[in-house]
Amino acid sequence: MPRVFKATNIEEEEKEVKKDYLDRHMPHVICEDKVKKGGLFKVKVRMGENYAHPDDHDHYISTIQLWNRETLLAETRYSSGAYSNKPAHAEVDFFINAPGVSMNLSAMAVCTKHGLWQSEDKAVKVI
Ligand SMILES: [Fe+2]
Repeated sequence: MPRVFKATNIEEEEKEVKKDYLDRHMPHVICEDKVKKGGLFKVKVRMGENYAHPDDHDHYISTIQLWNRETLLAETRYSSGAYSNKPAHAEVDFFINAPGVSMNLSAMAVCTKHGLWQSEDKAVKVI
């Protein structure tokens, strides 16, 4: 089982010392707080806020997944060079149909050198 890096498990001192390393590996779920039942809505997953991740042949973001609790909803894969071998904030838009119950979304991302990273949860109310 791989180690999963989560923002909530990292102590404040470590966050400050390693803020560029942590930031460039942390996926973020960006979407509406409330959606209509059955409606199609966009969920963006973006890597990092202030620091871009490398896109080298042996070090790049290879996978981004979107989860609703324990259910995998969608996944995308990248090859090295997808961002012209320049540091970038990898991002993807998923379009999801809102189920009948509220959701708790999270994203997972894989760096080929630094492992598996989990976003903070994003609660989405279905109305
Ligand atoms: Fe990395």
